[in-house]
Amino acid sequence: MDIALRRGFIWPSFEIYGGVGGFYDFGPLGTILKNKIIQKWRDYYVFGEGFFEIDSPSVTPEEVLKASGHVDHFLDAMTECQKCGAAFRVADVAREATGKDVEGMSRHEMEQFMQEHRVRCPDCGGELGPVFDFNAMFRTTIGPGAKRVAYLRPETAQAMFIDFKRLQRHARGKLPFGVVQIGKGYRNEISPRQGIIRLREFTMAEAEVFFDPDDPHHPKFSDVASEELRLWLAGDQERGKKLLNEVTAEQAVKKKLVCNELMGYYLALTKRFLIDLGIPSGAIRFRQQTPGQRAHYSAETWDAEVSTERFGWVEVAGLAYRTDYDLSRHAKSSGEDLTVFSADKKRKVMCHVVEPSYGIDRPLYCVLEHALVQEKNRTYLRLKKDMAPIEVGVFPLISRDGLPEKALAVYEGLRGKGLMAEYDDSGSIGRRYARADEVGTPYCVTIDHQTLRDGTVTIRDRDTTRQIRVGIEKLSNVLCSLLRDEVSFMDAGEAVKKRGGS
Ligand code: ATP
Ligand code: GLY
Repeated sequence: MDIALRRGFIWPSFEIYGGVGGFYDFGPLGTILKNKIIQKWRDYYVFGEGFFEIDSPSVTPEEVLKASGHVDHFLDAMTECQKCGAAFRVADVAREATGKDVEGMSRHEMEQFMQEHRVRCPDCGGELGPVFDFNAMFRTTIGPGAKRVAYLRPETAQAMFIDFKRLQRHARGKLPFGVVQIGKGYRNEISPRQGIIRLREFTMAEAEVFFDPDDPHHPKFSDVASEELRLWLAGDQERGKKLLNEVTAEQAVKKKLVCNELMGYYLALTKRFLIDLGIPSGAIRFRQQTPGQRAHYSAETWDAEVSTERFGWVEVAGLAYRTDYDLSRHAKSSGEDLTVFSADKKRKVMCHVVEPSYGIDRPLYCVLEHALVQEKNRTYLRLKKDMAPIEVGVFPLISRDGLPEKALAVYEGLRGKGLMAEYDDSGSIGRRYARADEVGTPYCVTIDHQTLRDGTVTIRDRDTTRQIRVGIEKLSNVLCSLLRDEVSFMDAGEAVKKRGGS
């Protein structure tokens, strides 16, 4: 978090006014990294799966969210300290104090639990007040006069249900078909204290996969059938067992550990996506939500969780079997017929939905934490090369003798070839390498006196700190090959003897 703040990945929003909990800005490097995560997500879901992408408003009229159940059920149990007035999610204070899960209990049972276990205010030790419901949606009104109530969307999903008829026509009646939306979601979280893990405005990337309930198959299931999944079943959690079921996606479906083949497929795809971001497979597990933890629309939910040093296991995506809950509710509430012909075209059906729903901010934190390497003499981010916000740093060895001019020309040339290069001439060369390491820049190019004599520059490799020399005319091609892992570093140029420290 320190490097992320210092080096321009993220910082608190509204900072000069004291900041507001649950809101963060992405700085110059964070914005690039975030866009790279979104682009990779699109590679999987829009290009890989062939899903359609839509873009709808964040402001959502009340009737939509009444029909979807969010007005009545998007509730968190909260309590306030009688002494200092701090507000808490009951599930969080109860878990922190006792290690036990109270989600799924009635409000009355929660109150009894808090009294029995003498749960007090974690801030001042004061007594906690009654448990009451808090709807986590931000409320607003449309137009002047406060007549039409609306909410900022708590999920991007609803537009994909509302637009279902048009989208299904766009898919020419084919089932299954999928739709995605990437955009902001808003939740008025009760007491966000975990940086970008719990935000009040965050980016979601959601896919709704519409299918015939009698035919929940994925046409490409065989591609992922052998993917190993680590599943923590709801029943085992309820019995207090930490045991993970290690099964292939195929076994998970065959043994009915997951509700259907589509769910098995998207669990496997989620694992691949997270690994592709740079998260080690050993740090990924799927936790099945217990019935008490599930959202009102879900018949089965799996949370993709990533192990982190700072926050423990963090949910980065939720995969829910939403059945025909949303389509049926919107059909009833709007009066539209939302049934379609089944996959075999013989029956009319209300489609069922499997929804892989990802946050973008939480995976971004996990990517940064897992990339951080702290060695005796240096700290660096071992980001995957395709995730690094800056691909190449360009430095003049010293700020005179015509080296800055030459370095700027090299820098412009690389930008012109589409490489995300950054020019840096401030401080010693060692400090510039250290800064580039801290933001995960995989390669640094240095222009030195030899460059003026023979037109060659050095390239330094972030992970090994080794250096090679290459001619400027070949530089962009060599860097592109290195960034795509098409050539090994030491084969890409002439080895430079190591100088102390840099
Ligand atoms: P949690 O239990 O941690 O509150 P959730 O179960 O409410 O999360 P979902 O409703 O499944 O989360 O939302 C899908 C994804 O959106 C999550 O996996 C997470 O990546 C992201 N997300 C949800 N709430 C937040 C938040 N407050 N801040 C940042 N990301 C969030
Ligand atoms: N769309 C999933 C969620 O908001 O929980």
